[in-house]
Amino acid sequence: MTKHGRFGKYGEKKRIERLRQSGNVQGRMQRKGISLSRKTAHHKDKTSSKTQVTTRQARPSEVDYIQNLSKKVFQQYGPYETMLQRWFEAVITVTVLALMGKKPVGFAMFTHPVKAWVFPRACELLAIAVEPERQGHGTGDLLLSEIERMAKEVGIETMVLHTGVENMPGQKLFRKHGFVPTEIKKNFYPEGQDALVMYKNLSSNSA
Ligand SMILES: CC(C)(COP(=O)(O)OP(=O)(O)OC[C@H]1O[C@@H](n2cnc3c(N)ncnc32)[C@H](O)[C@@H]1OP(=O)(O)O)[C@@H](O)C(=O)NCCC(=O)NCCS
Repeated sequence: MTKHGRFGKYGEKKRIERLRQSGNVQGRMQRKGISLSRKTAHHKDKTSSKTQVTTRQARPSEVDYIQNLSKKVFQQYGPYETMLQRWFEAVITVTVLALMGKKPVGFAMFTHPVKAWVFPRACELLAIAVEPERQGHGTGDLLLSEIERMAKEVGIETMVLHTGVENMPGQKLFRKHGFVPTEIKKNFYPEGQDALVMYKNLSSNSA
């Protein structure tokens, strides 16, 4: 494991401090359904693009799903299935699932504000992931919009995230939603990749 970033000793210590200060906020968020319409080249199947995908807050019993998808899409960066399981179970985080019918097809997780703000009115988008076979159909867009809406609803003004410097689909998604790059953290991930830090001011009117 690297000594840097959220997996390093320092990052982990800070996270535990934040967990100690957190309050349980489960159950605040409501189900939301959006009909999707897709246009560009990386969209794989336009005929299924109008399928109804809904979002709702993840339930504790759905931890296995979070782990399995994390293993599929984040394995190259390190032991994310273990880290995301711990974060999912922490009261400081909120996780949203995207579903087609009853079947989960993705999730997004962010840190909820704590009573004593570590950073004033800021939160971190810890992860967003869509099943590989469902990528390119608008689910990432839907999840990110929903996370932003939920964050704004509880008064968060700034959302921060880390993404791999080589992760172009991720960066394009975040730029599309108005996130701007701020710095590169060298050797951030356990497997040694650098991370690009991006943030968005949620109180502005940007997308
Ligand atoms: C990043 C990710 C969540 C996007 O989800 P998705 O459902 O495929 O994204 P969408 O279909 O909603 O596309 C939304 C936007 O993302 C960007 N995007 C998504 N896939 C892309 C690709 N293959 N190439 C380029 N841009 C892409 C585009 O800006 C797109 O908007 P557009 O359709 O108007 O061009 C998905 O690729 C994923 O799960 N990747 C693995 C995990 C990951 O890297 N997460 C991000 C870091 S935490």
